[in-house]
Amino acid sequence: MSKQIPEFARRRTFAIISHPDAGKTTLTEKFLLYGGAINLAGSVRDRKKATETSSDWMELEKKRGISVSSTVMQFDYAGLRINLLDTPGHRDFSEDTYRVLTAVDAAVMVLDVAKGIEDQTRKLFEVCRQRGIPIFTFINKCDRPGKDCFELLDDIEQSLGLKTFAVNWPVGTGPDFCGVFDRVDGKLHRFERVTGGRFKAPVAVSGMDDPALVDSVPGDILGPLREEVELLEAAGTAFDHKAILQGEMTPVYFGSAVNNFGVQLLLDGFLRYAPEPQPRALQAGGSISPEAVPFSAFIFKIQANMDPKHRDRLVFLRVCTGKFSRDLQVSHAQSGKKLRLSFSHQLFGRERETQDEAWPGDIIGITGQAGLGIGDTLTEDQKICYEPIPRFPPESFILLHNVDTLNFKKFRTGIDQLLQEKVVQRFYPLDSVSNIPLLGAVGALQFDVVQHRMQGEYGAETRAEATPWRVTRWLDPEVQPEAVAGKYLSGCLPVKDADGRLAMLFDSEWNMQYFSRENPDIRLHLCPDAGSFGVAAAKS
Ligand code: G4P
Repeated sequence: MSKQIPEFARRRTFAIISHPDAGKTTLTEKFLLYGGAINLAGSVRDRKKATETSSDWMELEKKRGISVSSTVMQFDYAGLRINLLDTPGHRDFSEDTYRVLTAVDAAVMVLDVAKGIEDQTRKLFEVCRQRGIPIFTFINKCDRPGKDCFELLDDIEQSLGLKTFAVNWPVGTGPDFCGVFDRVDGKLHRFERVTGGRFKAPVAVSGMDDPALVDSVPGDILGPLREEVELLEAAGTAFDHKAILQGEMTPVYFGSAVNNFGVQLLLDGFLRYAPEPQPRALQAGGSISPEAVPFSAFIFKIQANMDPKHRDRLVFLRVCTGKFSRDLQVSHAQSGKKLRLSFSHQLFGRERETQDEAWPGDIIGITGQAGLGIGDTLTEDQKICYEPIPRFPPESFILLHNVDTLNFKKFRTGIDQLLQEKVVQRFYPLDSVSNIPLLGAVGALQFDVVQHRMQGEYGAETRAEATPWRVTRWLDPEVQPEAVAGKYLSGCLPVKDADGRLAMLFDSEWNMQYFSRENPDIRLHLCPDAGSFGVAAAKS
């Protein structure tokens, strides 16, 4: 009798990361089409006709054409249940993206064939590497002229320190693009350039001299293809599944998302080689396997008022062990409080449905619970408590003014809520009694989100005042405020963070280094509690 595979082993939970415009939304849409999760006529998303993808839902996102907040999509394909987490696609690195990446087991990285690695991708890659998660690369827009493909692979290897294995290789480039040659299954997948694009049946090819290849590929394209494939073989890099799972090698696929070409090859390859839900690190040390029986999950995102139809606070949980069923009673590991998870939702872009059951790898949204924070654990077994999610030192600061003094209550409620969601961090200058919130974020775009949400969701008009602060460093816990308070030097500001920990803000790296030289007794840290918050900022 065949052994039934456990539910968790059927899950694949991943995110797509890319630089804005590389094609993340288009690829997401095509994946969803394969999963039967959306049904869009035509293959091109027409922004002008305002056809939204399911992951684009905030006003601000629509206005700017970017995806600011992340959401979750779930669909079934090839016997697997796929959880696809959307990552914010804006230029600034944001903590939100980082947190999404703590909740996935793998990532698909989309590169534009004409641009290769861009700043945003470099930072996201860095975060994936810190977590050791496997990365699958899709080189998109092969229907357009692009960079030399060897150069692209070299760029990934040199600047990201990842080995590459080209699973397939483009046949022709730009206007001559007519398919990909799959090096693993030895097939030529053909694409015909007609309006809307057309696929022709794949051709099995025994080698570069196979007459089937000669019949299918125009002579002026076949020559370079042969040379390139031979060069790849001569480089001798073997496909290494173990290295992929360890995040040391990235399998590379070529295609064109908008033409839906190469997308299924990527999806099939991804599902074949991507890992099932993995063990997760515990705060007390060690890790726990998804096979463990008691239910446990951690919170990676909190979002209030996601949908004007539901004015509430949605807490996103990644299930790590056990089975979730609606009405389950769990403990909040951080406070010891008992909660009943009655309002659980399956999420799909803006839409939500009641969720009765979930397994490790799945994401659920719960509402109706207060006092929960990002990184917290909800568990049936009180011995399970996951490692906290690291925070990043802010690199931008503003003072946020309330414009209408009669509206102060709304202003305060909004700020409190956004701080609890960890959209931004608040700091309190030691040498000031001002009540005007000093807010810090990794990327300045986050302040636009704050102002937009303060206005739209809380009815509080705000004004942002720029400040010079660019660098944050925390001090050792034993340092007393007197050691830094009142010693206001130009270019630095002593502050406390929301948890009362002392930190210094500087207007430049140079001034931070100067301060360090002048005050050798005061040690500066990238993160508070270097132990549990030991991740350095993802710098470009
Ligand atoms: P993003 O989420 O990473 O920001 O990128 P998105 O999918 O929105 O794609 C950015 C632009 O690139 C879109 O064009 C999209 O149609 C186009 N695109 C995506 N994949 C391909 C591809 O394989 N080949 C070509 N040639 N273009 C591609 P747009 O003009 O900004 O929008 P639209 O009017 O086409 O929707």
